[in-house]
Amino acid sequence: MADTHAKMTQATPQEILIAILAGLLAPLLAIVLIVQLVLGIQKDHKPDTTSEAAQKATLARIAPVSQLAAADANAPKVEKSGQEVYEAVCAACHGSGALGAPKFEAKGDWTARLAQGYDTLVKHAIEGIRAMPPRGGAADLSDVEVARAVAYLGNSAGADFKAPEAAPAGAPAAAAASAAKPDPAKGKAVYDANCVACHGTGVAGAPKLGDKAAWGTRLDQGFDTLYSHALNGIRGMPAKGGNASLSEGDLANAVAYLVTEAGGKL
Ligand code: HEC
Ligand code: HEC
Repeated sequence: MADTHAKMTQATPQEILIAILAGLLAPLLAIVLIVQLVLGIQKDHKPDTTSEAAQKATLARIAPVSQLAAADANAPKVEKSGQEVYEAVCAACHGSGALGAPKFEAKGDWTARLAQGYDTLVKHAIEGIRAMPPRGGAADLSDVEVARAVAYLGNSAGADFKAPEAAPAGAPAAAAASAAKPDPAKGKAVYDANCVACHGTGVAGAPKLGDKAAWGTRLDQGFDTLYSHALNGIRGMPAKGGNASLSEGDLANAVAYLVTEAGGKL
């Protein structure tokens, strides 16, 4: 009796090996399937827009749009529709949710944001907020184009925003001014109203008006770069000096005033 029992439980080394292999096979199969699934997802995955390189690539991809806009700056600018702007610029992040961007048509992503109201959302899209770059990184988009893209984006998530039809009154004149040579004489009033608070005293490390030492290496960047930094903000310098409603023409004049007061040339 004891003998048969011992025989029944006694497994040969081959039997043990088979049992171990069979036991390993199931988890192995599961691992292979998971790896295949992950590889499959990676293949379908939208391009990674979070890394610095990918962001640069995105900016490079949208650069032709800005260049095109710049090329026909002299021709009357045809404002792009919200959908066109969205597809050319905003979809890079808002299509996939890159960097935590609220996604197109994802109502849950937008509820609290929409509650801020259209004007605030447009302001945030123009000036940038947290990981959202000013104008989505396309500095040449007009305020109207950004506002239209915000309406397109918001409406996809259930809002009922009315996009601006055409440039608001005064904007054509501003556009003309930015195409014209910036005028430091006209910039003084703009400076006194918008920039003096920081650039008068050097608040937050702002280079002071007329302080040649503070402006020296900055002037070397050239007017266009300085203007672009003033438009989009840089470090302690807020976009448009914090006044989103400042026209680009007025801003260019104020930068010209700061530049010439520091001994720079236009
Ligand atoms: C490089 C990626 C990127 C691009 C390109 C981009 N966005 Fe964004 N956007 C973001 C991120 C990230 C957020 C979320 C920011 C936060 O709230 O922290 C955001 C938020 C927003 C918001 C909500 C702001 C708020 O107050 O909650 C609006 C509106 C918006 N984007 C509009 C646009 C428009 C219009 C464009 C195209 C012209 C655009 N974005 C292009 C990344 C991007
Ligand atoms: C809230 C304070 C503040 C206001 C208002 C402000 N600036 Fe600035 N600005 C700064 C600071 C701080 C810097 C230095 C940023 C840095 O280089 O770190 C700066 C830098 C600049 C630069 C140099 C950028 C560069 O590339 O070196 C220009 C040009 C400029 N501001 C223009 C303006 C104009 C034009 C206005 C008004 C329309 C204005 N700023 C309003 C704080 C301000």
